[in-house]
Amino acid sequence: MQWTFTLAQLPETAQQFWEHFADKRVFTLNGPMGAGKTTLVKALCAAKGVEDATASPTFSIINEYAYQDFAGKSHRIYHLDLYRLRDEADAISAGVEDTLYQDGICFVEWPEVVAHLLPPNTVHLQLEVGPDQKRVLREIASSLK
Ligand SMILES: Nc1ncnc2c1ncn2[C@@H]1O[C@H](COP(=O)(O)OP(=O)(O)OP(=O)(O)O)[C@@H](O)[C@H]1O
Ligand SMILES: [Mg+2]
Repeated sequence: MQWTFTLAQLPETAQQFWEHFADKRVFTLNGPMGAGKTTLVKALCAAKGVEDATASPTFSIINEYAYQDFAGKSHRIYHLDLYRLRDEADAISAGVEDTLYQDGICFVEWPEVVAHLLPPNTVHLQLEVGPDQKRVLREIASSLK
């Protein structure tokens, strides 16, 4: 599966993403600086019904969001940005391992430092800037280069 989208097409892409990955929980987001990883996560949160994703701080390591499903049950989404962590020990001290095994959806930007902590069934995603500044999103086999 591969999606190519502009900023304007992002809400629709986010809907399709959740149809495709309905049963998945942990996602790594690989791709260069400025590819649009954070922007994508915020759109994916909005598509789930999170109301305040855009208000979250850009520079915190772990952002936590909540949404309610159709039955009114509350769920969590965690957005981890590991760019400033040096190694696995750093990640564990920051609470990243605990977060990965919470009952909730998890997005991991810059996942290399936790490559060996990721749960089975983690989905690895690659995001690139394509022609006309459109973004190209696809599933890859591993986040390790
Ligand atoms: N689908 C898109 N089409 C066009 N521009 C986009 C798209 N997605 C994101 N952008 C733009 O790309 C820029 C970088 O986005 P963002 O901060 O989400 O990237 P990032 O991959 O999280 O970067 P970093 O690695 O620094 O965390 C922003 O200006 C954003 O508006
Ligand atoms: Mg980012």
